[in-house]
Amino acid sequence: MQDNNTQPIVTPPTTDARNGDVVAAKNEKGWFYTDTVKDHFFHPRNFMVDEESYGESALGMVGSPACGDAMKIWIKVDPATERITDLKWKTFGCGSAIASTSMMSLMATENGGVTLEEARKLKPQNIMERLGGLPARKVHCSVLGDKALRAAINDWYRQHNMVEKIEVETGRIIDRVLKITDKDIEEAVLDGADTFEKLQAKTKIGTGDPSCIPEAEQLLRFYKEKFFGAD
Ligand code: FES
Repeated sequence: MQDNNTQPIVTPPTTDARNGDVVAAKNEKGWFYTDTVKDHFFHPRNFMVDEESYGESALGMVGSPACGDAMKIWIKVDPATERITDLKWKTFGCGSAIASTSMMSLMATENGGVTLEEARKLKPQNIMERLGGLPARKVHCSVLGDKALRAAINDWYRQHNMVEKIEVETGRIIDRVLKITDKDIEEAVLDGADTFEKLQAKTKIGTGDPSCIPEAEQLLRFYKEKFFGAD
């Protein structure tokens, strides 16, 4: 006979009656994926299947400090128009990264493809809008594809000797003692720091250089609004 006291307590997920989403049983921890996210997760568009035979292309690769996941993006570009004619991708990221990058690949190539300059203006918010939203904790997954695309664009300009068009995102130092940059703050916000206390717990910002705290708070507000919208 089984000893019930040794059984783990598991609260089964429930099914949302309206749209069939699987949602957490406890509402305060609830999250769900839209049908569009699920469609792109189960049927990813433009996934790279055979790198060897893909032919001439530019490559962008990034890893996310938030979760250790990696993303690769390959683009083919028409040199005459600088439009992206094809985009393929591959990732070790989660379902949200797969869905976001799949959607981004469509947005970059639909209607004849966007130009490289237009592609640079594609924002994670635009991708999330087309997906119908992502859980807040998953926003950084959509940034992965966006960053890899920018790296691929730089690679294409590099290959075509147009170095003046390469845009390198360098961090500006905010905390001069600990050498913490605005990029570090951005990553911390994407990793869930939504208050200054959480930002400081993750980065130690301001502990050695308190004079940087007002600017750090301002950047925290800026990145929160950029990725999660106004409060
Ligand atoms: S890509 Fe790391 S959690 Fe989504």
